[in-house]
Amino acid sequence: MVMVKVSAPGKLMLLGDHAVVHGRPCLVTAVNHRMSVELAGRKDNRIALCAPDVGLDGYEIDIADLTKEHPKGARFVLTAIKNFFEKHDKSSGLEVRTRSDFSAEFGFGSSSAVTVCTIKALAELFGLKLTNKELFDLAYKTVLDIQGVGSGFDVAAAVWGGTLWFVTGGKEIRPLKVAGLPLVVGYTGVKADTTTLVRMVGERLKREPVLINGIFDRMAALVRAGAADMERGRWTDFGKKMDATQELLAKLGVSSPELNRLISAAREAGAAGAKLSGAGGGDCMIALAPNREEDVKAAIETAGGTVIPVRTGVEGVRTEL
Ligand code: MEV
Repeated sequence: MVMVKVSAPGKLMLLGDHAVVHGRPCLVTAVNHRMSVELAGRKDNRIALCAPDVGLDGYEIDIADLTKEHPKGARFVLTAIKNFFEKHDKSSGLEVRTRSDFSAEFGFGSSSAVTVCTIKALAELFGLKLTNKELFDLAYKTVLDIQGVGSGFDVAAAVWGGTLWFVTGGKEIRPLKVAGLPLVVGYTGVKADTTTLVRMVGERLKREPVLINGIFDRMAALVRAGAADMERGRWTDFGKKMDATQELLAKLGVSSPELNRLISAAREAGAAGAKLSGAGGGDCMIALAPNREEDVKAAIETAGGTVIPVRTGVEGVRTEL
């Protein structure tokens, strides 16, 4: 029986959080923590999923039941399979196993990465060549089918890797020429609910369109200037854009006391800039700390955070077997 194994990276949002849901650009970087999916065909019409990282062991259904409701941990993989079968007019029983290098608590984008891996693995199994954009479009549709909201930046990071300029829904996806970023990541210990936060910001946009669109436009200007800083390695300038973005995110109401504490500690320890990364409310903060990485890491730990070692400049989705 042919077995396919595919992996894809997690991500961190560098600039443009939330604004990217509403038509603006963002900068996202892939990190060296990967999700992987192993997949093999079966002769019967059953799909068996083993996803120990999300507490699923031996979840099994008939192909005909792909359209039904499934436990949370199974939804992205099974909806990806359903969408792939429908789009490419294929069908097969399957054995699927997922594995994650990182906790789903960090907000590194495990759902998007597992969706991308599943579609890529199915394409390999059926011998179909998908372009990155075709893979992105089907994975993004899958994420939207389940979550209903989201810009797709995390899907793009899983597909392309590296560091990207990205506009809502994949209207623009441009890899940037950036070597490794001197990033330090601190986990607050609080799991945030991205969908709730994205909806909350969406509601504020409806109630206060002038104020919130003004914030988004300023964030977009920081993304444009930040992309140039990054490609030239101007870390001090880029750090200032992170700080300015954090202020705007706080005005949106998505920062939290835990995030604020870690961000202040990183700045006091000499970071060029620091901000929350992603939806806010908890999850992770990031600091840019050229030549000060050890001091900033120590400060984050002292302030009650957990440092998560990351490397950037990593490959997007790839076949492992
Ligand atoms: C969440 O990680 C980042 C947001 O910008 C949502 C999105 O872009 O899908 C808040």
